[in-house]
Amino acid sequence: MLKIFYMINIIIILLSGCSLDDSDSYTNESVIKEVDAHSVDPSPVWLPNAGNATAEFDSDFPFLQFIPHLDLAELTSASQGRELFVAEWTAAPGVRPLLDGLGPLTITSSCVHCHLASGRAPSLMENGDVGVGLLFRLRDSLGNADPFYGGQLQTAATSGSSEGQVSWKFDDNNQPVFTLVTNQFPLTEGINLGPRLSPQLVGIGLLDLVSVDEILSREDEYDIDADGISGRAHWHIIDGQLELGRFGWKAMQPSLKHQSAGAMQQDMGLTTSLNPAEPCTDLQTLCDNQPSGGSPEVSDNSLAVINDFLTLLAVPKRRISDQNEFDQGAAIFTHIGCANCHQPTLTTINSDKYPLLSNQLIYPYTDLLLHDLGNDLNDNVKEGDAQPSEWRTPPLWSLGLVEAVEGSRFLHDGRAETIEQAIIWHGGEALASKNNFDILSVIEKQKLIIFLRSI
Ligand code: HEC
Ligand code: HEC
Repeated sequence: MLKIFYMINIIIILLSGCSLDDSDSYTNESVIKEVDAHSVDPSPVWLPNAGNATAEFDSDFPFLQFIPHLDLAELTSASQGRELFVAEWTAAPGVRPLLDGLGPLTITSSCVHCHLASGRAPSLMENGDVGVGLLFRLRDSLGNADPFYGGQLQTAATSGSSEGQVSWKFDDNNQPVFTLVTNQFPLTEGINLGPRLSPQLVGIGLLDLVSVDEILSREDEYDIDADGISGRAHWHIIDGQLELGRFGWKAMQPSLKHQSAGAMQQDMGLTTSLNPAEPCTDLQTLCDNQPSGGSPEVSDNSLAVINDFLTLLAVPKRRISDQNEFDQGAAIFTHIGCANCHQPTLTTINSDKYPLLSNQLIYPYTDLLLHDLGNDLNDNVKEGDAQPSEWRTPPLWSLGLVEAVEGSRFLHDGRAETIEQAIIWHGGEALASKNNFDILSVIEKQKLIIFLRSI
């Protein structure tokens, strides 16, 4: 496909000379028009981007909005889950036993502090501080956790001292470098800070319902088709079962339930039946003799309603002002190889529990597989089986809404301020695609970005 694109490209350039009325001298707009004329359906059919889970766009509240037409039982359960998601949790014993057990080590006191209704929480602050929107895994390049602090840094504490704070600055290459500031121990030699930006929660219930087989059908670990792209699944063994990871920047969690229980433990110091321990290591005495908020602190019922809430979140519908321009942007996205990883469509399985979400064609722009994105995006932290430079293709739907909110950032460490900057950082398996992006004309780039802002 790409080869054909290049051949047509070269032939057109040879035939037309370099007659450009556009300021960019590498290529010209007729390239894409010619390619479109040869290989792309001139008027692709676009179904709603998230099937039944598509909602009208609400500019004040694009994320954390319920799917339309829920039945009463779904609405009740999702509303209870929403209450727990936006609640301020407190240390035990608290006035509301349902909401106590926070800490002693924690990062913040509510899920919604990191997963805003409108975009991404503050991360790389101008004064060199790191906002709550960025948390840190602590591992070496072989995957070993810090023996004292454990596998994640907790920057706050409900009693005693937190593990420390992180400050940041850009290096000469415009990459953020992070430093732990702590009055406890320095990190053990070889252990690095692995930054993870809080993603907006969009369509995660649908992604939870994509079949393992569909994800595996796109795997090409040894690049048998020799297209330079070798996506692979991230497998985990949980309770003796092999589970496919699909959530988080490294596909560390196999389901929303595991993701929430992990967040409760590592981000908030809340225990669940899935993770009954506080996030202290054996060397940390802070968690000993702390009043507990129950055993576990978050009941299975609370975990289940949060799961319903997360599952029943809507996806804002596309925002298209010029259909033709949008179609051309979509064609460019495919032609330059973005769609090789950011797969436009997936389908959900049949779900007895969530019939509205069954058998939906969705447009998340991800394959949910791990890809090596090259050296610049290597943070020397291995998680599970994912190497330091391997990342799960993030879904791109609703990303334009994120970009519109001031302070929002992109990529796992938030180094990119705009969608275009995020593209330019792509390397490794995505290098060819990034190079194709570089040689697009200004107008072609604009069309691509307009498309990305509308999905
Ligand atoms: C301190 C900030 C923070 C808090 C608090 C937090 N999260 Fe997250 N959340 C994150 C980060 C960072 C990630 C990405 C994790 C990774 O890459 O491994 C994430 C990922 C997720 C995802 C997966 C999203 C995806 O697209 O893969 C879900 C679902 C989620 N969180 C739910 C929750 C719930 C429910 C709570 C409250 C119990 C919560 N989070 C609390 C920061 C936070
Ligand atoms: C080889 C697979 C691959 C290809 C090809 C690829 N991407 Fe990505 N993309 C990724 C991965 C993996 C990440 C996450 C990297 C990170 O955060 O370190 C990402 C991140 C992004 C982000 C930031 C997402 C966010 O949530 O912050 C955008 C935007 C993006 N890609 C757009 C594109 C576009 C446009 C193209 C085509 C020019 C493209 N990508 C090609 C795999 C790919």
